[in-house]
Amino acid sequence: MPLHRISKLIRTRIKQTEEMEHSSPLFLTSSFSFDNAEEMRAAFADENDDNIYSRFSNPSIQEFTDRMCVLEGMESGFATASGMSAVFASFLTFLKKGDHLLSCRSIFGSTHSVITKILPKYGIDHSYTPAGDLSKWEEAIQPNTRMIFVETPTNPGLDLIDLEVVGKLAKKHNLIFCVDNCFATPIGQLPAKFGADLVIHSATKWLDGQGRVLGGVVLGSKKLIHDIYLFCRSTGPALSPFNAWILSRSLETLEVRMERHTSNAFYLAQQLEKHPAISWLKYPFLESHPQYAIARKQMINGGGLLCFELKGGLESGRKFLDNLKMLSRTANLGDTRSIASHPASTTHGKLSEEERMSVNITPGLIRISAGLEHREDILEDIVQAL
Ligand SMILES: Cc1ncc(COP(=O)(O)O)c(C=O)c1O
Repeated sequence: MPLHRISKLIRTRIKQTEEMEHSSPLFLTSSFSFDNAEEMRAAFADENDDNIYSRFSNPSIQEFTDRMCVLEGMESGFATASGMSAVFASFLTFLKKGDHLLSCRSIFGSTHSVITKILPKYGIDHSYTPAGDLSKWEEAIQPNTRMIFVETPTNPGLDLIDLEVVGKLAKKHNLIFCVDNCFATPIGQLPAKFGADLVIHSATKWLDGQGRVLGGVVLGSKKLIHDIYLFCRSTGPALSPFNAWILSRSLETLEVRMERHTSNAFYLAQQLEKHPAISWLKYPFLESHPQYAIARKQMINGGGLLCFELKGGLESGRKFLDNLKMLSRTANLGDTRSIASHPASTTHGKLSEEERMSVNITPGLIRISAGLEHREDILEDIVQAL
């Protein structure tokens, strides 16, 4: 019987062992053994899919990637030790010396560092394009452009990129279209529907959802993921089987968790939008979001994050963090516990004001990751801190 996506996700599992366990076991092993030399030879000759070594494959990791394929509607996947290793593997597998990468300007800080500090060492050039003005994107494509990379919604400013428009552009110019879908999750947005060739996640965030493990994953066609597999098999950014086992269990509750995170975030956004201490507030499903029409077109829900600008700038951002009584002050997001962050004094504190403004990090910008606490408690803490 054909199952709905979430039922299929929950029912996707590795083969039961002879113990007939109901929940999938953890294969905490670095390698796998063979009955005889011929079986071992055949596995090493890639004549079958037998597991050899957990840097290449492992049943617990396979279950996590199979479940992510169901969620994202992709053929194949490779799981990595962190979101950043997923980003790095995607770049280094498909880009070589002399190639050019086109990326939206507002991206996660470490991805920005990889693009501007590490890729140039390998002779890979880039151009940044603004999230809001897609007319500049086609002009920025060069004869040696190989890939378009976007994050939407962006971190931390929650700007949106029209996936349909960029997907068509990538197709027209025969470029690999790579989307970091970390903020929206596959419950909130399916980039493959808009032509994404690769979808990346930091599983550390909403996919785990409880702030326990680091992880990442890249999803795409069998052909593209095989290339990623060959790159990772030799370079070694494999996900730990233990983390994969944790993440696989977390995915079973992803939809119900995201429903609550999202409704809490939407409620906070509605209640805080007109607060006198705030000059603007952004949430994709609020009509006041400058790209509300794009949000409605490509997102299934508005997600679990909102951000706002405090009127008093940098100093009021620091004061706001100090005043919080319940919300956590931590670098993560996508946790059961609500989190507040002030990028200008923390993650982006080493950049100059000008550099921060170039990636839309304004002095009083606060990002809230809505947790699963009662919405009135989250609101009350934010309001008293304001
Ligand atoms: C959008 C986005 N992509 C990638 C990453 C990197 O993920 P990880 O910390 O798991 O390496 C992050 C981390 O915050 C992120 O927010």
